[in-house]
Amino acid sequence: MTRNRHYIRSATFADAPAIARVHVDSWRSTYRGIVPDSVLDTLGYDARAEVWRREIEDTTSSKFVLVADTPNNQIAGFVSAGPERTGEYPDFTGEIYAIYVADDWHGYGVGRAMMSQAAQNLLKQGHKTMLIWALTENPACAFYRYLGGIPIARQTITAGHKTLEETAFGWENIAVLVGVSDNQER
Ligand SMILES: CC(C)(COP(=O)(O)OP(=O)(O)OC[C@H]1O[C@@H](n2cnc3c(N)ncnc32)[C@H](O)[C@@H]1OP(=O)(O)O)[C@@H](O)C(=O)NCCC(=O)NCCS
Repeated sequence: MTRNRHYIRSATFADAPAIARVHVDSWRSTYRGIVPDSVLDTLGYDARAEVWRREIEDTTSSKFVLVADTPNNQIAGFVSAGPERTGEYPDFTGEIYAIYVADDWHGYGVGRAMMSQAAQNLLKQGHKTMLIWALTENPACAFYRYLGGIPIARQTITAGHKTLEETAFGWENIAVLVGVSDNQER
């Protein structure tokens, strides 16, 4: 199957199970050895699908969820974004809450295309800046740096019995992310 064709579109209610599958599988493969097994092994598709159904249904906030759709109607990845959640970083008003690409789609431009479309949506909402939190040990940190993100803050979180560090990457001008992909929202 060719993996260079994918389309970024808004998620629908019906996408929730596929989003949950990408999310849970990606958590397990990305965070194994970083996040305790006890946390990863209790993740379930059904519970996660319910969380995503609620997110997609919520039309009262300016949060949004996008998916990367493929010619086979397979969800290759998803991104969720909206206003920065805490108000503690006034220089960064937009936020990407989650971005995950299915393992077998890594390296085909899906992540970059979703970053680009999320940045376009945030620009339309009036945000010129944004941040993303990632576990400092996550290889995705190098992806954010590659796309122009600058480390702007650190915090610790607890996962099971473990304390983990997160780094926030900030973009002072998210317009730089727009136009870095050939794929378009349909
Ligand atoms: C991080 C992630 C979103 C990147 O998505 P992707 O579709 O594989 O990345 P793309 O194919 O769009 O890559 C775009 C560019 O970034 C580079 N890149 C991708 N992943 C990279 C990484 N981990 N480190 C450095 N560069 C990276 C690619 O080489 C490519 O550069 P090029 O076009 O100049 O060759 C994806 O690997 C992923 O979902 N990882 C697991 C889940 C995760 O950690 N999500 C983030 C939670 S905070």
